[in-house]
Amino acid sequence: MNMRFLDACWGKPVDRTPVWLMRQAGRYLPEYMAVRSKCTFLELCKTPELAAEVSIQPVDILGVDAAIMFSDILTPVEPMGMKLDFVPGPVFESPVRSMADVEKLRIPDMEQDVPYVFETIRILRRELASKVPLIGFGGAPFTLACYMVEGKGSKDFAQIKRMMYSAPDVYAALMEKITMMSMEYLNAQIKAGAQCIQIFDTWGGILSPADYERYVLPYTAKLINGLNRMETPVIHFVKGAGAMLDTVKKAGGDAMGLDWHVNLGDARDLLGPEMAVQGNLDPTMLYAPKDIIEREVRRVLKENAGRPGHIFNLGHGILPTVPPENARFMVECVHRLSQDRVEG
Ligand code: CP3
Repeated sequence: MNMRFLDACWGKPVDRTPVWLMRQAGRYLPEYMAVRSKCTFLELCKTPELAAEVSIQPVDILGVDAAIMFSDILTPVEPMGMKLDFVPGPVFESPVRSMADVEKLRIPDMEQDVPYVFETIRILRRELASKVPLIGFGGAPFTLACYMVEGKGSKDFAQIKRMMYSAPDVYAALMEKITMMSMEYLNAQIKAGAQCIQIFDTWGGILSPADYERYVLPYTAKLINGLNRMETPVIHFVKGAGAMLDTVKKAGGDAMGLDWHVNLGDARDLLGPEMAVQGNLDPTMLYAPKDIIEREVRRVLKENAGRPGHIFNLGHGILPTVPPENARFMVECVHRLSQDRVEG
């Protein structure tokens, strides 16, 4: 088993910098599209053999150092009682708007309601046995709440912010329920065999640092604190957190995911040697010519300056129209250039 990804999560020295890509199982791969053409996205998530197959594709095709199980952050929200569709973005039929709506939400019985997630994990652990570690994941409470309250993606997040400011009791009850659900869901993933957990807070950065601290931090901190982390590192990714890394750090976790708006070296200085980092190449860099991709990989590695505890990644998910060859080249650059650093 290639352990460099888990070693880096724990801040241990590694032979080469480990690398994977957020959203690495997905539409930019023709091999994914071939599987996906036969079913809907939700059917794919709910069919463990197929979900496992597309999770392994980027490991074989790109040579990444970790696999991430194929699912979505909204998978465990559907059995809370919220009918979900993807068109391709997520859409909830009846968004949460009142205390009555929050009270109707149930905390799923994980093994009963989303058994396919844990079956996917078990299949993946068997099939990845001698290859790379498996990452499980979930949405942070705030990002899940954004979708549950807005009902879909949003530009201004008016509904969730309205609730946050004008109905703080409803907001708090909703966040509390999502936090408890997420704790059970992620601990069940660990029990099924996930070797690392990444928490995606895609929308945490839409708030001011003060609002993040008041309305988001307590819930994410409670969630991370409630995970069985003894043998399972937690990566906390908050997109747009560059101006409030010191606050986000208080949520805990073993590694912090960074987007491309921060200098990785500056972030490391601020976070200190106890916290690993993951990131942070601009995802659109994968449209650039190879010499530019190589230059930028070198720059990110240079910003890290050989410190242990760096997992290379994009600063957000890989885009659906990226040429797979460029992603493969990026992975090869990370391995080659980080090895050069050790030897030369
Ligand atoms: O990383 C992986 O390869 C594992 C799979 C994964 C998916 N979604 C598959 C997916 C993961 C980790 C996610 C996380 C996710 N889902 C996030 C957090 C990460 C991020 O990108 O910020 C969010 C916000 C979602 C919600 C979601 N799901 C959106 C906004 C969309 C549509 C937008 C888009 O990318 O098209 C989805 C659909 C989705 N999730 C697809 C995939 C492969 C595309 C569906 C398809 O095949 O038609």
